[in-house]
Amino acid sequence: AKRYSITLLPGDGIGPEVISIAKNVLKVAGSLEGIEFLFQEMPMGGAALDLTGVPLPDETLSTAKSSDAVLLGAIGGYKWDKNEKHLKPETGLLKLREGLKVFANLRPATVLQQLVDSSTLKKEVAEGVDLMVVRELTGGIYFGKPRGFSTNENGVEIAYNTEVYAAYEIDRIARVAFETARKRHGKLCSVDKANVLEASMFWRKRVTEIATEYPDVELSHMYVDNAAMQLVRNPKQFDTIVTNNIFGDILSDEASMITGSIGMLPSASLGESGPGLFEPIHGSAPDIAGQDKANPLATVLSAAMLLKYGLGEENAAKRIENAVLDALNRGFRTGDIYSPGNKLVGCKEMGEEVLKSVSSQVPSA
Ligand code: NAD
Ligand code: IPM
Ligand code: MN
Repeated sequence: AKRYSITLLPGDGIGPEVISIAKNVLKVAGSLEGIEFLFQEMPMGGAALDLTGVPLPDETLSTAKSSDAVLLGAIGGYKWDKNEKHLKPETGLLKLREGLKVFANLRPATVLQQLVDSSTLKKEVAEGVDLMVVRELTGGIYFGKPRGFSTNENGVEIAYNTEVYAAYEIDRIARVAFETARKRHGKLCSVDKANVLEASMFWRKRVTEIATEYPDVELSHMYVDNAAMQLVRNPKQFDTIVTNNIFGDILSDEASMITGSIGMLPSASLGESGPGLFEPIHGSAPDIAGQDKANPLATVLSAAMLLKYGLGEENAAKRIENAVLDALNRGFRTGDIYSPGNKLVGCKEMGEEVLKSVSSQVPSA
């Protein structure tokens, strides 16, 4: 049997609830393809803070680095919100992304036919939407220096961050985006704020230059404010979107709502080499944590992305995607995607239904 080591980082809030389901689904989907997983569960985020005093313990990062892929639930919560910056769960997550050098974050937003009625947009606007946000993940204002709190020359308290991109950082994310668009429908829209920000002017210039390597991909540019509007006006105009770290964060949450719920959207974060990091785009949802209400499908679909993009196991990935569709076809819905006529279930039951679907599949030879 093929063997892979997977680092599991359940994290906080609904993280452990959704990770335990994704783990079980991975196990079964893998076994049907002759794949065995060695799971190593490590503390991360607030859970790690409580246990070890830091949000990303060295052992967690080294275990992640030496595994074949990393699956993360979510981190963060009220309890740690007032911590100093270096002791915030979110800082641990940024260190993990930086440590794994996963600069390319793929966030697909697909409106499933089964969930058209769950979208807040009109049926004719939402139906058929299938877009991919390629978000730069290890640069920009999240990491730029100088940053901090200070006092200006008039003795007034200030705080500041820096949006900074090196040419190589833009070039490599642009190449990932062009490659992605090439495998999809050949259209790439680069989103920036080049009418105001130098970092965006530079972004647009580099992306335009890299475009000469991809004459088969149709490149367009859009300002981020317009892009936010176009996403709800006519999302079907988009195929692949490439953008910086912070715009990608915001636009992918917006795109998720077109599909019905943020509880549906998975992501893959990839570098030049080494293990990828796979996580739902949602957070720890402290408002519903511990109540068996979370939608586990974003994490289950992140496990499918892990198989496809992280391990090259496309057949096993398809099994998970099909199992999710099957559970939806059989009418099961968590609260966030519920529409009348369907069966309202909790996190666990949704997980069990997906597991039933995958378990009923015929093993490959
Ligand atoms: P959130 O994504 O956790 O929640 C936003 C809203 O969406 C909430 O109403 C929540 O109940 C709902 N929601 C999210 N995931 C859901 C799911 N799977 N099923 C059903 N409903 C779901 O965002 P937030 O409230 O802004 O942040 C909460 C905490 O999570 C913060 O500490 C934040 O820093 C952290 N966060 C972590 C990550 C991550 O770990 N990658 C991502 C985003 C936010
Ligand atoms: C996400 C989250 C993170 C981000 C936070 C928790 C650091 O919002 O994964 O989208 O801003 O990247
Ligand atoms: Mn986010």
